[in-house]
Amino acid sequence: MSTIPLEIDGRQVAAEEGETILEAAQRNGIHIPTLCYNKQLKPYGECRLCMVEVTKGNRTRIVASCAYPAEENIVVKTNTEKIAKIRKMIIELLWPSLSALAKDYGVTESRFHSDHTDCNLCGMCVRYCSEVKKLNAVYFKGRGINREIAVVPDLANECIYCRDCFTLCSGGWIVDKCDNAYTSLSK
Ligand code: SF4
Ligand code: FES
Repeated sequence: MSTIPLEIDGRQVAAEEGETILEAAQRNGIHIPTLCYNKQLKPYGECRLCMVEVTKGNRTRIVASCAYPAEENIVVKTNTEKIAKIRKMIIELLWPSLSALAKDYGVTESRFHSDHTDCNLCGMCVRYCSEVKKLNAVYFKGRGINREIAVVPDLANECIYCRDCFTLCSGGWIVDKCDNAYTSLSK
Protein backbone atom coordinates (compact mmCIF):
# COMPACT_ATOMS: atom_id res chain seq x y z
CA MET A 1 0.00 0.00 0.00
CA SER A 2 1.38 3.44 -0.88
CA THR A 3 1.73 6.00 1.88
CA ILE A 4 1.20 9.78 1.91
CA PRO A 5 3.98 11.94 3.34
CA LEU A 6 2.87 14.99 5.32
CA GLU A 7 4.05 17.12 8.21
CA ILE A 8 2.21 17.31 11.53
CA ASP A 9 3.48 19.64 14.25
CA GLY A 10 6.93 19.73 12.67
CA ARG A 11 7.19 15.94 12.33
CA GLN A 12 7.36 14.10 9.03
CA VAL A 13 4.76 11.33 9.14
CA ALA A 14 3.28 8.90 6.64
CA ALA A 15 -0.48 8.53 6.36
CA GLU A 16 -2.05 5.44 4.91
CA GLU A 17 -4.25 5.83 1.87
CA GLY A 18 -7.79 6.87 2.81
CA GLU A 19 -6.79 8.12 6.26
CA THR A 20 -7.92 11.47 7.58
CA ILE A 21 -5.48 13.89 9.23
CA LEU A 22 -6.87 12.84 12.62
CA GLU A 23 -6.29 9.14 11.95
CA ALA A 24 -2.75 9.78 10.69
CA ALA A 25 -2.02 11.90 13.76
CA GLN A 26 -3.43 9.30 16.17
CA ARG A 27 -1.46 6.49 14.55
CA ASN A 28 1.69 8.56 14.96
CA GLY A 29 1.01 9.31 18.62
CA ILE A 30 -0.05 12.95 18.07
CA HIS A 31 -3.05 13.88 20.19
CA ILE A 32 -5.93 15.96 18.76
CA PRO A 33 -9.00 16.34 21.01
CA THR A 34 -12.32 15.02 19.63
CA LEU A 35 -15.92 14.83 20.70
CA CYS A 36 -17.99 13.53 17.79
CA TYR A 37 -15.37 11.24 16.24
CA ASN A 38 -15.59 7.48 16.54
CA LYS A 39 -13.65 5.13 14.33
CA GLN A 40 -16.63 2.81 13.89
CA LEU A 41 -18.67 5.63 12.34
CA LYS A 42 -18.48 7.86 9.27
CA PRO A 43 -16.81 11.27 9.81
CA TYR A 44 -19.32 13.77 11.12
CA GLY A 45 -17.33 17.01 11.48
CA GLU A 46 -19.83 18.61 13.83
CA CYS A 47 -18.22 19.40 17.20
CA ARG A 48 -15.20 21.29 15.74
CA LEU A 49 -12.92 20.30 18.63
CA CYS A 50 -10.56 18.55 16.25
CA MET A 51 -9.91 21.66 14.13
CA VAL A 52 -6.32 22.05 12.89
CA GLU A 53 -4.48 24.47 10.60
CA VAL A 54 -3.56 23.02 7.21
CA THR A 55 -1.16 24.71 4.81
CA LYS A 56 -1.17 23.58 1.20
CA GLY A 57 1.14 25.60 -1.04
CA ASN A 58 0.69 29.18 0.12
CA ARG A 59 -2.87 28.73 1.42
CA THR A 60 -3.65 28.04 5.07
CA ARG A 61 -7.10 26.89 6.20
CA ILE A 62 -8.67 25.70 9.40
CA VAL A 63 -10.34 22.31 8.89
CA ALA A 64 -11.93 19.51 10.91
CA SER A 65 -9.15 16.92 11.06
CA CYS A 66 -11.63 14.04 11.54
CA ALA A 67 -13.14 14.73 8.11
CA TYR A 68 -10.20 16.14 6.12
CA PRO A 69 -8.19 13.57 4.13
CA ALA A 70 -4.44 13.36 4.63
CA GLU A 71 -2.84 14.83 1.51
CA GLU A 72 0.67 14.72 0.17
CA ASN A 73 3.03 17.37 1.56
CA ILE A 74 0.45 19.39 3.51
CA VAL A 75 1.70 21.01 6.69
CA VAL A 76 -0.59 20.51 9.68
CA LYS A 77 -0.47 22.39 12.97
CA THR A 78 -2.67 20.95 15.68
CA ASN A 79 -2.37 23.53 18.43
CA THR A 80 -1.81 27.08 17.23
CA GLU A 81 -3.13 30.17 18.99
CA LYS A 82 -6.15 30.28 16.64
CA ILE A 83 -6.93 26.61 17.25
CA ALA A 84 -6.63 26.99 21.01
CA LYS A 85 -9.09 29.89 20.81
CA ILE A 86 -11.64 27.76 18.92
CA ARG A 87 -11.30 24.91 21.41
CA LYS A 88 -11.64 27.26 24.38
CA MET A 89 -14.83 28.65 22.88
CA ILE A 90 -16.29 25.13 22.46
CA ILE A 91 -15.26 24.23 26.02
CA GLU A 92 -17.01 27.35 27.30
CA LEU A 93 -20.14 26.72 25.22
CA LEU A 94 -20.41 23.22 26.65
CA TRP A 95 -19.33 24.31 30.13
CA PRO A 96 -18.90 22.51 32.50
CA SER A 97 -19.27 19.19 30.69
CA LEU A 98 -15.75 19.06 29.18
CA SER A 99 -13.93 19.54 32.47
CA ALA A 100 -10.92 17.32 31.67
CA LEU A 101 -10.24 19.24 28.47
CA ALA A 102 -10.90 22.56 30.20
CA LYS A 103 -7.94 21.85 32.46
CA ASP A 104 -5.65 21.27 29.45
CA TYR A 105 -6.73 24.61 27.94
CA GLY A 106 -6.65 26.57 31.17
CA VAL A 107 -10.39 27.30 31.06
CA THR A 108 -11.78 27.83 34.55
CA GLU A 109 -15.12 29.44 33.77
CA SER A 110 -17.45 30.20 30.87
CA ARG A 111 -18.02 33.67 29.42
CA PHE A 112 -21.40 32.42 28.29
CA HIS A 113 -22.64 31.47 31.75
CA SER A 114 -23.38 28.10 30.26
CA ASP A 115 -24.73 25.43 32.55
CA HIS A 116 -24.48 22.56 30.17
CA THR A 117 -24.93 19.34 32.09
CA ASP A 118 -26.75 17.34 29.47
CA CYS A 119 -26.11 15.63 26.13
CA ASN A 120 -23.43 17.27 23.96
CA LEU A 121 -25.28 16.43 20.75
CA CYS A 122 -22.24 14.54 19.50
CA GLY A 123 -24.65 12.37 17.52
CA MET A 124 -22.76 9.20 18.35
CA CYS A 125 -25.91 7.28 19.40
CA VAL A 126 -27.93 8.52 16.40
CA ARG A 127 -25.17 7.68 13.94
CA TYR A 128 -24.42 4.29 15.50
CA CYS A 129 -28.08 3.31 15.43
CA SER A 130 -28.39 4.37 11.80
CA GLU A 131 -25.03 3.28 10.37
CA VAL A 132 -24.25 0.13 12.33
CA LYS A 133 -27.53 -1.08 13.80
CA LYS A 134 -29.61 0.12 10.81
CA LEU A 135 -32.52 0.75 13.17
CA ASN A 136 -32.83 4.58 13.49
CA ALA A 137 -34.37 4.28 16.94
CA VAL A 138 -32.82 7.60 18.12
CA TYR A 139 -32.91 10.91 16.29
CA PHE A 140 -32.29 14.66 16.60
CA LYS A 141 -35.45 16.49 17.56
CA GLY A 142 -35.97 20.28 17.43
CA ARG A 143 -33.61 23.03 16.31
CA GLY A 144 -31.10 25.48 17.76
CA ILE A 145 -31.02 25.53 21.54
CA ASN A 146 -34.04 23.21 21.59
CA ARG A 147 -32.21 20.49 19.69
CA GLU A 148 -32.12 17.23 21.60
CA ILE A 149 -31.82 13.49 21.22
CA ALA A 150 -35.10 11.60 21.25
CA VAL A 151 -36.06 7.95 21.05
CA VAL A 152 -38.69 6.85 18.54
CA PRO A 153 -41.47 5.79 20.96
CA ASP A 154 -42.33 2.59 19.12
CA LEU A 155 -38.70 1.52 19.13
CA ALA A 156 -37.97 2.20 22.81
CA ASN A 157 -38.31 -1.49 23.63
CA GLU A 158 -35.64 -2.31 21.00
CA CYS A 159 -33.28 0.21 22.66
CA ILE A 160 -33.73 -1.14 26.12
CA TYR A 161 -32.61 -4.61 25.06
CA CYS A 162 -29.95 -3.52 22.55
CA ARG A 163 -27.93 -0.96 24.59
CA ASP A 164 -25.10 -1.16 22.02
CA CYS A 165 -24.63 2.62 21.76
CA PHE A 166 -24.57 3.23 25.52
CA THR A 167 -20.80 2.86 25.76
CA LEU A 168 -20.29 5.52 23.06
CA CYS A 169 -22.01 8.24 25.10
CA SER A 170 -19.35 10.08 27.09
CA GLY A 171 -21.77 11.32 29.73
CA GLY A 172 -24.13 8.33 29.72
CA TRP A 173 -27.11 10.57 28.83
CA ILE A 174 -28.45 8.14 26.27
CA VAL A 175 -29.09 5.59 29.04
CA ASP A 176 -31.60 7.90 30.75
CA LYS A 177 -33.20 8.89 27.46
CA CYS A 178 -33.79 5.23 26.55
CA ASP A 179 -34.95 4.32 30.05
CA ASN A 180 -37.41 7.25 30.09
CA ALA A 181 -38.74 6.42 26.62
CA TYR A 182 -39.21 2.80 27.65
CA THR A 183 -40.95 3.79 30.89
CA SER A 184 -43.37 6.07 28.98
CA LEU A 185 -44.05 3.26 26.52
CA SER A 186 -44.94 0.78 29.22
CA LYS A 187 -47.32 3.19 31.05
S1 SF4 B 1 -26.95 11.09 24.12
FE1 SF4 B 1 -24.72 10.78 24.32
S2 SF4 B 1 -24.11 9.68 22.45
FE2 SF4 B 1 -26.14 10.59 22.06
S3 SF4 B 1 -25.71 12.56 21.13
FE3 SF4 B 1 -25.91 12.93 23.34
S4 SF4 B 1 -23.79 12.81 24.11
FE4 SF4 B 1 -23.79 11.88 22.09
S1 FES C 1 -14.23 15.23 16.24
FE1 FES C 1 -13.96 16.30 14.38
S2 FES C 1 -15.60 17.67 14.29
FE2 FES C 1 -15.99 16.48 16.07
